Amino acid sequence: MFKNQLIANDIFYVGVNDRQKHKFENMIPLTNGVSYNAYLIMDQKTALVDTVDISFGDLFIDKIQSQLQGRTLDYLIINHMEPDHSGSLRIIRQYYPEIIIVGNAKTLSMVEGFYGLVENVKEIKDGEILSLGSHKLEFFLTPMVHWPETMMTYDQGEKVLFTGDAFGCFGTLDGAVLDTDMNVNRYWDEMVRYYANIVGKYGAAVQKALKKLTPIDFETICSTHGPVWRENISEVVDLYDQLSRYKGAEGVVIVYGSMYGYTELMAETVAQGLAEAGIKDIIIHNVSKTDSSYILQDIFKYKGLIVGSPTYSNELYPEVESLLRKIEIRGVKNRVFGYFGSFTWAGAANQRLKTFGETMKWPTAEISVEEKQGLKTENYQALLELGHQVAELVKLPYLESQHCG
Ligand code: FEO
Repeated sequence: MFKNQLIANDIFYVGVNDRQKHKFENMIPLTNGVSYNAYLIMDQKTALVDTVDISFGDLFIDKIQSQLQGRTLDYLIINHMEPDHSGSLRIIRQYYPEIIIVGNAKTLSMVEGFYGLVENVKEIKDGEILSLGSHKLEFFLTPMVHWPETMMTYDQGEKVLFTGDAFGCFGTLDGAVLDTDMNVNRYWDEMVRYYANIVGKYGAAVQKALKKLTPIDFETICSTHGPVWRENISEVVDLYDQLSRYKGAEGVVIVYGSMYGYTELMAETVAQGLAEAGIKDIIIHNVSKTDSSYILQDIFKYKGLIVGSPTYSNELYPEVESLLRKIEIRGVKNRVFGYFGSFTWAGAANQRLKTFGETMKWPTAEISVEEKQGLKTENYQALLELGHQVAELVKLPYLESQHCG
């Protein structure tokens, strides 16, 4: 019944869209949904590349059977074991008991660990080739993008690279699958948000993978999330290169927590200082209102970060503290930093923010402001100056040594 989209000769899209789940990994809002992409190669032997979230297992089987037309499934190639892709592994094995599960040593260990499957598995090594007939599949191990077993599969004849999560993004596929058949503008920010939240810590591993891919002449990228990339390949690879180098554009994100508006007023004043100094991309986020996945997205996009927080129970405002931990965990590099705070009877916020900047090893504005109660003229001027100083730091060129993750 299903007419699966053709990606290249004998290669069909058999993925699904998820518009039901509210939060990816139970944490990250799926505002625009997400697709779980899987691909079926119809050759002398048939091969499925990755599976989908088990919530869509029935639909997935229907799509596969529509294509196979009674043929069997010979191989299941697993590029990534996270359950949004491996979740339908057991149901596939139930329908096709003879299927050979193909993966590297770490993959197969997880196949056993997650699903208890040890029979009919084939371990492949880096650079090994599996022939399906006319299609020759070459495997590239790309560990820690963003799990230890992650790998990519290259169809040499069709020049199609199956990349797992790499080059993926949030957002469902609404009709078309190939980027040549759609307006892709809505996916760019979702690619940054995906990268910042899911892959963000592993910039060095992504750089290593990108170098490994350099000699490969691929013309199509089949990721496990979002569009199949063909006419935007250079943009997609460039974006991944920039993100994994932690190289931000000339702009500043101001994140603040504020209970009664006093710290918010400080944030607006700093923004005015940035604008006076010529910064055109200034994004202000109220940490209590904007989900942190979007704040992290913008932090990965722009070079400057300024954080403001009230003192709360002699600590940082808890929502700000939570965000700082998320930044620390990702080891975000190459940012320039500024901070300000407020308090009513005893200040502690600025000291924590200062320590945060030192921990991250980011160049930090010399001036910082910690206001007691309402904003006074002297501190108003100092906040403008904080904006000026961060603007100057943002405008300094990146040094080559700063680039790599
Ligand atoms: Fe889309 Fe790392 O799973």
